[in-house]
Amino acid sequence: MSSTCKLLFSADVPQHTVSRYLYSQFAEHLGRCIYEGIWVGNHPKIPNDNGIRLDTIAALKQLALPCLRWPGGCFADNYHWTDGVGPQAQRPRRHNMWWNQPETNQFGTDEFLRFCGLIGTEPYLCTNVGSGTVEEARSWAEYCNSTQDTTLTAMRKANGHPEPYGVKWWGVGNENWGCGGTMTPRHYAEHYRQFVTYLRGTAGPEAKMIACGAHENRPEWDEQFLDAMKGALHQIDFLAMHTYSWGGGSDLDFSVDEYRKILASINLLDRELKRAVALTRAYSYYGHPIRVALDEWGTWYSVATVQTGLYQQNTLRDALFAAAAFHCFHRHEGLFMTNMAQTINVLQSLLLTRGEQLVCTPTYHVFDMFQPHREGRLLPCNSDLPVLDLVDSQQITAISSSATLAADGKSVFVSLVNLDLDNDYTVNMQISGQDQWKLVSGQVLTAPDIHDHNTFETPEQIVPAALDVQMIDLKQLSVPAHTLITLSFELA
Ligand code: AHR
Repeated sequence: MSSTCKLLFSADVPQHTVSRYLYSQFAEHLGRCIYEGIWVGNHPKIPNDNGIRLDTIAALKQLALPCLRWPGGCFADNYHWTDGVGPQAQRPRRHNMWWNQPETNQFGTDEFLRFCGLIGTEPYLCTNVGSGTVEEARSWAEYCNSTQDTTLTAMRKANGHPEPYGVKWWGVGNENWGCGGTMTPRHYAEHYRQFVTYLRGTAGPEAKMIACGAHENRPEWDEQFLDAMKGALHQIDFLAMHTYSWGGGSDLDFSVDEYRKILASINLLDRELKRAVALTRAYSYYGHPIRVALDEWGTWYSVATVQTGLYQQNTLRDALFAAAAFHCFHRHEGLFMTNMAQTINVLQSLLLTRGEQLVCTPTYHVFDMFQPHREGRLLPCNSDLPVLDLVDSQQITAISSSATLAADGKSVFVSLVNLDLDNDYTVNMQISGQDQWKLVSGQVLTAPDIHDHNTFETPEQIVPAALDVQMIDLKQLSVPAHTLITLSFELA
């Protein structure tokens, strides 16, 4: 069955810019994300650049990820950065208490920052507030960024990096209402004031400070924390939210209702973002804006437990969810950064590895296909889209879409995802305005079944395919069930 609907994008009245940092990532010392996914040491069979696997570098470089958050997560407030610098043979072995696994410290600050350089991403370091000290966080900033002649900068030079790294993004703790110290908002605010004073003073004028915000079941944390920060609100550049998408059953074995639950979580993300953006605006006094970072999000299925190192497969469902979530993120002007959890082998990963093999997930391809949206200006949309009934009387439009005008005004990029599992739609699409736009290329991502996924045996089950633009009639654009389409237009 195919019904008809319309989508009208207005290119003459572009809205806010879609921050490229919305397409950032998060990698934690958890399961096989860092060890195996990135770091293989002197493995005899896995080709590597001084310990960092080459296939991971190549795959991530292609995505030009704007920013990568590290080392956690819960691990961050249990991590002491001095354990992970200097000669590797002398680094201490610890127990990673949250994820119940050994921590060899072979991958530390210099390895992470080198990795970021290799894949062309900006590092985001999350400091230890829960079990660390102010001086420990401050000295980490000195080691990374200082231009002064100090013992720590001499140590950095001796470790192979004479120039300061210039790390810009600094997280002040992680989930300090939970694994980061079970603090009250007031208690955390007192810690935050102290940490940020020394961290900012050492990390340099370009550094941005990211405070721990709420998760969806504890929204009151944000207001209480911001209230307790009165008089020092200028010390907060970003408030970080965490919102995971639960209830989707297992990674490969899920029902239609469980698919709908994952879609319903986009409404939750939308509500949470509205709340956090409005609140941070209200607390942005004296011209110092506080913006929102959603620095952990993504699907989390029942198979992903501490025992499995939070490993889960990634199906077409994850790709459609990611695409529709990005469309939602584009609409929130106060949202600056999002970091999907987590890059490799953990939760909604971009890449999966098994020994020497590596596979790109369907979610990886969404990141790749959506690159032209970054730094584009959002185009308003007029539509009459059908809705899908979800769970708990919730609804979502069957076609989720977004269109952006490139910064130079010379191209428009449109993405459309049909979230309906059964119905194809015929979309009558138009880009209105003074200019005429010509369709120059397009891609499609789909599979016969929503459960389909890429495996080590069939790594190309779900990959983008080029659309034959000569064949496309925008007045009768066919968008099949469970399919993502992207279209690039240039000035005619
Ligand atoms: O991403 C896995 C964990 O989820 C993170 O360590 C923590 O911050 C969150 O609860």
